[in-house]
Amino acid sequence: MYVELSMFQTCPIRPGSHNFRMNDKLNFRNNKTFNLLGYRHIDTAACYGTEKAVGKAVLKAVEQKIVSSREELFITSKLWGTDAHDDLIVPALKKSLENLGLEYLDLYLIHWPVRLRKTEKYFPIEKEDIMVFDMKSTWAGMEECKRLGLVHSIGVSNFSSKKLSDLVDFATIPPAVDQVEMNLFWQQKKLIDFCKEKGILITAYSPLGAHRSVYQGVDILNHPIPIQIAHSNNKTASQICLRWLYEQGVSIAVKSYNEERMKENLQIFDWKLSEADRSLIANIPQKKGVYGDMLVFPNGVYKSIEQIWDGEI
Ligand SMILES: NC(=O)c1ccc[n+]([C@@H]2O[C@H](COP(=O)([O-])OP(=O)(O)OC[C@H]3O[C@@H](n4cnc5c(N)ncnc54)[C@H](OP(=O)(O)O)[C@@H]3O)[C@@H](O)[C@H]2O)c1
Repeated sequence: MYVELSMFQTCPIRPGSHNFRMNDKLNFRNNKTFNLLGYRHIDTAACYGTEKAVGKAVLKAVEQKIVSSREELFITSKLWGTDAHDDLIVPALKKSLENLGLEYLDLYLIHWPVRLRKTEKYFPIEKEDIMVFDMKSTWAGMEECKRLGLVHSIGVSNFSSKKLSDLVDFATIPPAVDQVEMNLFWQQKKLIDFCKEKGILITAYSPLGAHRSVYQGVDILNHPIPIQIAHSNNKTASQICLRWLYEQGVSIAVKSYNEERMKENLQIFDWKLSEADRSLIANIPQKKGVYGDMLVFPNGVYKSIEQIWDGEI
């Protein structure tokens, strides 16, 4: 099941995105299961430290005919802020490709709307690392990546609709995707409307609220509403979350390292939520899980979380 991107390319809409464990040496067993089950969209990033592991796993998957060719996979990676400098964008993508052992990426995203001091380290981010984000020159570098044929589509991540609108206003090549937090607790209505109007695909990350692993106080899978809807549909809370996203027309970056849960997360295509289910979901109080507070410093470029999201929180 695919959705069209604005650049005549298709993106698997199945809940297929998959990250690999940080610093994993190879993790092929996990990748084999992932591909055999039918996942085709791999989401990685320079700062995850997983590109080499993904690359080796993709190579083996092709060699062992788990997928017929690399073209069957949709591989996304992301530009980190330390490389969001005019002279570093194309080299950063080339480095990602080298890590992955690939000739091209399907999608390359600006990971966050931020420019960080040029340095080898990704984390931790200190106040003096944060520089003024130059969206125009960073996007020009992304456009150059596409012109060079190193990537099929370019896009952004963690952009508010305000930032996306600013970008659309000057972009020669419009962004194909905005990858953002989106789930039952953060339904992104405004951004969905904006992206539909502009032909930009949303990829929903943390679709299960990163179940218990990252965000304090966000435990979507134990919230009474998805649990109630799951009971009445004979499904799991996770399937309710993913089906709802699927019905919003977004692509989904869900992560699981567990084979049973990987299977469960794919079983969302042959049934629908009812109108009553949808209105229960629409009434869930909204609470963001990812604030980007790592980028906020009292005297820094972003002085508050509101500034990162242009008040859209
Ligand atoms: N662009 C960005 O800034 C950004 C930020 C965050 C994430 N992402 C991308 O989005 C992907 C997914 O996001 P995420 O990891 O934050 O959150 P997520 O997919 O919402 O949640 C992952 C967690 O849910 C658990 N899980 C998965 N399926 C389950 C099921 N059926 N039942 C119960 N628990 C289940 C997983 O545990 P098990 O492994 O044990 O199943 C894992 O702990 C990441 O891998 C990354 O590629 C991007």
